[in-house]
Amino acid sequence: MSVISTSYMGMQLSSPVIAGSSNFTSKVDSIIEAEAAGAGAVVLKSLFEEQIVTLASSLSAQETYPEAEDYLQYYTRSNSIEDYLNLISDARKRVKIPVIASINCFSTRGWIDFAVDIEKAGANAIEVNIFFMPVDMHQTPARAEELYFSIIEKLKQKVSIPVSVKIGMRFSNLLNFAWQVHNHGASGLVLFNRFYEPDFDINNLSIVPAAVLSNPAEQRYVLRWVGMVSALNLEMDISASTGVHTGEDAIKYLLAGAKTVQVCSALYKRGFTVITEINNMLRKWMNDKEFSRISDFRGKLNYRNVDNPALFERSQFMKHYSSYI
Ligand SMILES: Cc1cc2nc3c(=O)[nH]c(=O)nc-3n(C[C@H](O)[C@H](O)[C@H](O)COP(=O)(O)O)c2cc1C
Repeated sequence: MSVISTSYMGMQLSSPVIAGSSNFTSKVDSIIEAEAAGAGAVVLKSLFEEQIVTLASSLSAQETYPEAEDYLQYYTRSNSIEDYLNLISDARKRVKIPVIASINCFSTRGWIDFAVDIEKAGANAIEVNIFFMPVDMHQTPARAEELYFSIIEKLKQKVSIPVSVKIGMRFSNLLNFAWQVHNHGASGLVLFNRFYEPDFDINNLSIVPAAVLSNPAEQRYVLRWVGMVSALNLEMDISASTGVHTGEDAIKYLLAGAKTVQVCSALYKRGFTVITEINNMLRKWMNDKEFSRISDFRGKLNYRNVDNPALFERSQFMKHYSSYI
């Protein structure tokens, strides 16, 4: 019988399928449901650096006394934080699977100290979802990337639990970036976050949100980069996020070298049973292929292990299109 347990950033998981950060992981009851469905871990809904700061400043804008402003800033911050810390400690009491806290951030200001409280509340790890929109044409890519590294470094100085970094899809040289994320102390890299994107409504001449949920086809781009980064053999586990809707999607990411996969859109479309279905299909596929554990096939199709690594590279697409009629 095939065993689907795995390790992720030093934690033992009963399954490589993680319930990714979303509203589905913002309440203890749904975290219990995730565990019952077979999730190997949960990443909690993010605490947003932005959310705390915006809330504090919008409330304080209504006040005229500086003391009131200070109080509101403190109050809104500590309440958001307190709710979050309670969620962590309650979840830890109610489930056995690892609980990974998540912080959505774009600077090192104001929130890093709270990571200590997150660790004290019992989180097994912290996933930092780092993103800022580079809107300054004078800022070089290297300067922009330094911000990521300083966040990781400062966080690692404060906490001893593992830290993973969740990033967006676009970097000039993702392999170098991943290597540096590792060098600055991250234990995990989540490829990738999927952002809100604006779309145009040509009838109303307005800007509208593009599809909020992913589809399996979005997996292709991620598959390539999981396969490339995992081939670096860094001591940093990769978690694949984007486009996991079925067992087949999960198996592909594991073959590319991911230690875990995260599901989010699939939960919105089909609920937690999708995790049970992915686990079942993974077990069945492993049995059929006579793999007794995940390490028997993890990374088998990554850039290092395939016979023709050029298949990962763009030239193959040029060749493909030139003969495509
Ligand atoms: C409604 C919704 C809420 C999300 N909230 C968060 C969040 O709080 N923090 C975070 O890091 N990612 C968040 N995500 C991103 C997901 O965790 C995930 O990385 C992304 O949706 C791609 O995975 P998927 O294809 O399985 O949806 C959210 C996604 C959705 C659709």
